[in-house]
Amino acid sequence: MPRVYTRLGEWKLERAAMDRSGLSLGFVPTMGALHAGHRSLLERARAENDRVVLSIFVNPTQFNDPADLKRYPQTLGPDLDLADGVADYALFPSRAEMYPDDYNYRMTEGSLSARMEGAQRPGHFDGVLTVVLKLLNLVRPHRAYFGEKDWQQLLLVQGMVRALFLPVEIVPCPTVRDPDGLALSSRNRGLSESGRALAAAFPRILREPAPAQRAAKALGDAGFGVDYVEDHAGVRLGAVRLEEIRLIDNVRL
Ligand code: PAF
Repeated sequence: MPRVYTRLGEWKLERAAMDRSGLSLGFVPTMGALHAGHRSLLERARAENDRVVLSIFVNPTQFNDPADLKRYPQTLGPDLDLADGVADYALFPSRAEMYPDDYNYRMTEGSLSARMEGAQRPGHFDGVLTVVLKLLNLVRPHRAYFGEKDWQQLLLVQGMVRALFLPVEIVPCPTVRDPDGLALSSRNRGLSESGRALAAAFPRILREPAPAQRAAKALGDAGFGVDYVEDHAGVRLGAVRLEEIRLIDNVRL
């Protein structure tokens, strides 16, 4: 089982001891409700580093909808079971310790973050980038692992690391999918049986070789509420709503 740190002071002492040992450190940041997609990030981190840190922090500043934050699943026990054998340490900090400044200081990107997910969820990427910067400063990993499912997040984190000269390698990891093609997500568990069956049409329609507008129309016709379908630098990104569950995905064009 990973050793759990709830107090940042205790974690910092452990991290300082690691500096003296010269071991390499891989980091997988999460908001918990772990599934096989997270497990694959942890396994990759395990294979490429001497030690692996997992963080579990449901970051309030990246939720623009308080109801969404409230219903976000919190499953620490099963999360630690899933990380067993692959993570050495689990950081599980409190909101008070993570935001001693009450979120008065924040990280903003001025272009890509306003589009797609950012347009649908104002302030979302400020929250993501701010917490990722805090976590990278606390963990000081050699490598940090991010899933390609959150493609826009991945691009923004890579951009921040370049812009601020952060001494970490960001490792993109392929999306893990169910056999019918639906990308694994903590949110999928909110779907009914029929909703789950329909959800598989989302990546299938995104993948069809048609203009983005046509894909958006096909998704609407299939019964999804469509937030956006956009092509960006060789990747098609989409977000849809189904039974009040929001699904996002992307495919290479
Ligand atoms: O992708 C996520 O789970 C979150 O956005 C992250 C990177 C852990 C920041 O809260």
